[in-house]
Amino acid sequence: MKQSSPRKTWVAPSIRSHNSGLNKFGAARHHLVTEAIEGTPVAELIARFGSPLFVFSEKRLRENARRLKRAFATRWPRVINAWSYKTNYLGAVCNTLHQEGYWAEVVSAFEYEKARALGVPGNRIIFNGPYKPLAALERAAAEGARIHLDSLDELYSLEEVARRLGKALPVGIRLNFDTGLTDPWSRFGFNLESGQALDAARRVASSPHLKLTGLHSHIGTFITDPRAYAAAVRILTAFMDTVETQTGTLIEYLDIGGGFASRNALQGVYLPPEQLVPSPEQYAEAVCDALMAGTRDREARGFPRPVLVLETGRAVVDDAGSLITSVASNKRLPDGRRGVVLDAGVNLLFTAFWYNHDVRPARRPEGIPEETVLYGPLCMNIDVMRQSVQMPPLVVGDLLVFNPAGAYNNSQWLQFIEYRPNVVMLMEGGGVEVVRVREDLAVVTAQERLPERLSRPFSEGCDDAV
Ligand SMILES: Cc1ncc(COP(=O)(O)O)c(C=O)c1O
Repeated sequence: MKQSSPRKTWVAPSIRSHNSGLNKFGAARHHLVTEAIEGTPVAELIARFGSPLFVFSEKRLRENARRLKRAFATRWPRVINAWSYKTNYLGAVCNTLHQEGYWAEVVSAFEYEKARALGVPGNRIIFNGPYKPLAALERAAAEGARIHLDSLDELYSLEEVARRLGKALPVGIRLNFDTGLTDPWSRFGFNLESGQALDAARRVASSPHLKLTGLHSHIGTFITDPRAYAAAVRILTAFMDTVETQTGTLIEYLDIGGGFASRNALQGVYLPPEQLVPSPEQYAEAVCDALMAGTRDREARGFPRPVLVLETGRAVVDDAGSLITSVASNKRLPDGRRGVVLDAGVNLLFTAFWYNHDVRPARRPEGIPEETVLYGPLCMNIDVMRQSVQMPPLVVGDLLVFNPAGAYNNSQWLQFIEYRPNVVMLMEGGGVEVVRVREDLAVVTAQERLPERLSRPFSEGCDDAV
């Protein structure tokens, strides 16, 4: 008898362009997978902690922090590294960085309070930002924080606070200027080109209650050209000389803010991060060379070289954080593209509005990759995680890993439509710890109060439709 061969499943014919996996813009990514993070299988993490899930690597965080610190400490004698709280203020992240010697850089009363609650002493806090309520200024001044003035009104308030405290309070002023290589963030601090900054410096220097000890700038975020920092340092050192000559004060430190790029892909930028993003050493080289040149004659004049302060955020934390999400459904869009709905959207990965995060399946893909739109779970048209990405066929329950996802998501995420999920940390010595517990109805409604009159949804006779 003739043996029947097993039936093959019919597969739709398709035409695929030949792709060697590499072009001038770098390696193709659609064959890449992330089966495990730091050796822990992604599927195991989801089975234990649920989906979606943020995962931080303590090891990576510490390595990034140490590398950045070393890059500057080996090039400049006196450096203070501060951790930018707004980039990620999960306690576990902040304290990992504090343990690495990072100070806290905060921009609000809440962030100040959080740093203090974590145990950071006031004199290890840098207080920036355009809005510092009087009570926060009073507390920060009393506790010895480094306050950076943002406006004349703030200067007057702080002067009054200092007068009441009865001491000459050391302060810094925030400057904004045009580096020629970045868009000036002119809404923060005092403008240098217009003369505002020098006026503010003179005003502080002439106050019996304030003492000008620092100059601060933050030229922007995700700055991929180290020359922009060299330009900023040239401007800052020249301004420092002018201020010192004209007012007789001694500037003790120059704070160049944050802004170093992380290994992420800004939308509209064609080069992949591995080709575009400078290393910490390249930033350090540019900054410290300019600093050396700009302060060369200080010692001859009997002035010490200023302390260099950094307020790094994304470059330290971004790739230490990943977001794991599950496929909820597939659909075919009218234009022929594939749409995939995930259980995490812009409510969790807020930075998806600006970045094309690297996203990889957690298992070896089978089938032909095709152009796919990744949607989040929100019933909102704006909820798009990736407008276009090559993905193999995915089935419900498949896991995708977004990385880097550690910067500006756990601080900017929204409790909107969905609860926020568990956040875990892979501990350096082994094991996984929950560092933020997933929300539930009780957490989300804890602050609500129902007036007695509104305590029931329907009142007698009002339920017309039934
Ligand atoms: C004053 C200040 N310092 C530091 C940072 C950290 O910036 P980044 O995360 O780009 O390093 C920011 C962020 O915008 C900032 O406003």
